[in-house]
Amino acid sequence: MSNLARWRIELISTDEEGCNFYLNQYKPFRLAALRRDPDAFGSTYDREINFTNDDWLSRIKNPLVKTFVAVRPHDGRVLSATSLIGPLPNPDPSSNPLQASAEMRNGGDQHHKHGNAQVSPLSFQISGVYTTPEARGQGFAKELIKTASEQAINSAKGQDRQLSLSVVVYASNSAAIRLYKSCGFVVGEGGFRSSFNPHKNSSFEELVMHYREPPSIS
Ligand SMILES: CC(C)(COP(=O)(O)OP(=O)(O)OC[C@H]1O[C@@H](n2cnc3c(N)ncnc32)[C@H](O)[C@@H]1OP(=O)(O)O)[C@@H](O)C(=O)NCCC(=O)NCCS
Repeated sequence: MSNLARWRIELISTDEEGCNFYLNQYKPFRLAALRRDPDAFGSTYDREINFTNDDWLSRIKNPLVKTFVAVRPHDGRVLSATSLIGPLPNPDPSSNPLQASAEMRNGGDQHHKHGNAQVSPLSFQISGVYTTPEARGQGFAKELIKTASEQAINSAKGQDRQLSLSVVVYASNSAAIRLYKSCGFVVGEGGFRSSFNPHKNSSFEELVMHYREPPSIS
């Protein structure tokens, strides 16, 4: 049996059980990720360790955020996670989509179809991708990104809209860039850009990558 078969891929729900899971399992997972791999994230451990439980819960209850996890069934331990943020009103990919979505939590996508007018794509971003060191190289991140991407693809199809699905990654993070490429993401036209991170008080080179659906075989 493959390792993936011994793990469940789940969407964290917003009911009481999901909120308890978020605080008891996801929160320590996320804090450990920020502490162990600070260079991978836009946010920082020092920032999120000061979040109250209400701050954490406001993330999971934000209707623009869906968090998928690979969970060990017998103890609920999280080994890998990915969040899908959207539909976002602004199609320009943000360095910190979780924060952007918190600021616009009730705004969301506000583009409506008017007659034959051109309708903008439905925009989503992948964020918070992390696998614990002992679980790396077993396909967890790829599987979770595939699951999150399918959710975005189906949302766009359901609304008969084009899809804009992107991820912002530090240019120095070659493992993550390779991961996204293996999941169907390509480097955007703009290539590298420099972005100031107020949480780290520094500027970083980042890369915007866009999901491209494989051409259908007819
Ligand atoms: C990047 C990371 C999420 C990969 O997680 P993972 O579960 O080990 O990834 P997977 O096993 O699903 O690997 C899928 C693909 O990613 C690529 N990849 C993953 N780790 C890699 C590494 N260390 N070096 C090169 N490529 C790597 C490979 O192309 C792999 O596909 P393949 O096995 O078919 O060749 C993990 O190393 C991690 O958590 N790193 C720290 C946090 C981080 O960088 N997050 C991304 C922020 S944008």
